[in-house]
Amino acid sequence: MTLRPALSHILTTTDPWEKASAARSVVAKWHRGNLAWERDETSWPDPARRDRPPLAPPSAMAKRGLGSAAGRRALLHAVAHIELNAIDLAVDMLGRFMDEVDEDARSGFIADWLSVADDEARHFTLVADRLEEMGGTYGDLPAHDGLWMAASRTKDDFIGRLAIAPLVLEARGLDVTPPMIEGLTRAKDTQSAAVLQQIYDEEVGHVAIGARWFRFACGKARINPQTTFNERVERYFPGGLKRPFNTDARDRSGVPRDWYEGASVT
Ligand SMILES: [Fe+2]
Ligand SMILES: [Fe+2]
Repeated sequence: MTLRPALSHILTTTDPWEKASAARSVVAKWHRGNLAWERDETSWPDPARRDRPPLAPPSAMAKRGLGSAAGRRALLHAVAHIELNAIDLAVDMLGRFMDEVDEDARSGFIADWLSVADDEARHFTLVADRLEEMGGTYGDLPAHDGLWMAASRTKDDFIGRLAIAPLVLEARGLDVTPPMIEGLTRAKDTQSAAVLQQIYDEEVGHVAIGARWFRFACGKARINPQTTFNERVERYFPGGLKRPFNTDARDRSGVPRDWYEGASVT
């Protein structure tokens, strides 16, 4: 079997737990040398989803404090949904845009995004398992499709996808996760706090991978990364970037401040 159909199988797997385990097994097969890369012109699928969780607009999401068990379950449910989308985003980056990368850089590109897909699959399972321990289950609350919608606008633009998925959406995760960890710690839910801490630590690496390939793609196109980032944010993320930024984590990811400070900020 070759890599692209294996990736497409992850995307079209409907059950979230099966999707996560399919992602992990494709990554393991690749590392064992059991999957070859081959150019492939077949059409690329959209991700498959179960009918649960029901999708609703972001504005319809109930805001509940972390002081209650229901509020903490709602937070974990939202994070599980993000991680499930993140599996598809990493797989889509690879399957959809693999041919944008020249042969000498290709194995690095594949290794990077497979490592992200593997992490996201582990993150989904960690969070979904923790949610079960808390008496919930992934799928039993509404969720919103904002992540996938934001990314899908860039499906024909490799540089745009690199700007939006890792450098806007995942970088936003770096901004918002520390206050969640603090809230969970204050509520004495140290187990959930530890799960989010692990995810947070690993997400710094995902943003770093995004920054590296964004620079690579801009270098190849001979365009300025900072102005290109701003232009793509304006085009695909018209609401602009939200402050406050976690500049410390963003620095560790190697994202220069002038990229996001210069992007339209609401
Ligand atoms: Fe993640
Ligand atoms: Fe991630």
